[in-house]
Amino acid sequence: MIRAKPDVEALSPYVAPLEGRRSLLRLDFNESTVGPSPNVVEAIRSLPPDAYATYPEYAGLDEAFAATLGVTAKHVEAFNGVDAAIRAIFDAYGEQGGTFLTTVPTFGYYEPCAQQQGMVIDEVPYLDDLKYPLADVIRRLEARPRLFFICNPNNPTGTLMTPPAIVALARSAPETLVVVDELYAAFTGQSVVPAALELPNVVALQSLSKAAGIAALRLGFAIGHPSLLERLRRVTGPYDINTFAVVAGKAALADPDHTRRYVAEVLSARTWTLGELERLGVRCSAEGGNYMLVWPPGDLAAVVQALRDRGILVRSMARKPVIDGSFRLTIGTEAHMRRFMTAFSAVIGREVHA
Ligand SMILES: Cc1ncc(COP(=O)(O)O)c(C=O)c1O
Repeated sequence: MIRAKPDVEALSPYVAPLEGRRSLLRLDFNESTVGPSPNVVEAIRSLPPDAYATYPEYAGLDEAFAATLGVTAKHVEAFNGVDAAIRAIFDAYGEQGGTFLTTVPTFGYYEPCAQQQGMVIDEVPYLDDLKYPLADVIRRLEARPRLFFICNPNNPTGTLMTPPAIVALARSAPETLVVVDELYAAFTGQSVVPAALELPNVVALQSLSKAAGIAALRLGFAIGHPSLLERLRRVTGPYDINTFAVVAGKAALADPDHTRRYVAEVLSARTWTLGELERLGVRCSAEGGNYMLVWPPGDLAAVVQALRDRGILVRSMARKPVIDGSFRLTIGTEAHMRRFMTAFSAVIGREVHA
């Protein structure tokens, strides 16, 4: 067998249990539980055969997204999902032996991207109460890492930093590229944009996967200084985003009320779910995003499996530092959360009395 380059041979890939989920209630990957605006489906349906045969065109896409942020299109660059933006950031700015500063636990795709570049990974654990390890991060930034990621709110802990605190960190580290992964900004209403656009060392990442409901189509955006975005363009292919994503993205952005209504529904379902879990005396944590961590009584694996047996998927956080023993629960509509709570109380009732 021909060996890949040493950094690739050594890396542990991002593996997610993504198969066989379609017929189940998917509360495991923070997707929308209702899907996109009907306009998206209509826009895709009405594409003529010619659209399938032609390479994609991108005019108007960055503009449409930029308009939702109140910034100009030169500050925005579309990618084949935020995952592809993350990959491009490491391709363009990662370097052999350079330091990648991050927190742990956090989104699982950063680490393999850093490993592929042969970077040294400096992971700072969240505090036991899941607060951001600010003092430690400030100290580590003094060593001028090449790249620093803040996932805000952090997936999976929900930890949320204020935009001014993040901007202050970025100002203190002008030689570090600071990436603010704001995948769940629609649910928190908090973003470093536009404040961070003045800084030449900050890139924010946002996506239409979650609140806008088009995870399958893959469309995400990097927002930042035009010179940074130009470097990211250099390492991406000319047609990495397909026509369906472009068409769906424009249709989704043209119906902001659909996203707004869904976000409001999720936030109200979150309050309801937290109340119910509290009533059951179950530890949980839900600071940011359309997800929360739940520490079920009894055996975690057995609870996750029992929920699956009842048609509900949640994501086990077994053996993850700081949050071992919990599962991550996506928050959907109230109807979905009622279905979850009915199953969960039955499961832990059985667990507790076993
Ligand atoms: C924090 C975070 N960043 C990035 C992504 C990837 O987003 P996208 O679907 O836009 O590639 C996810 C997806 O779960 C995420 O949770």
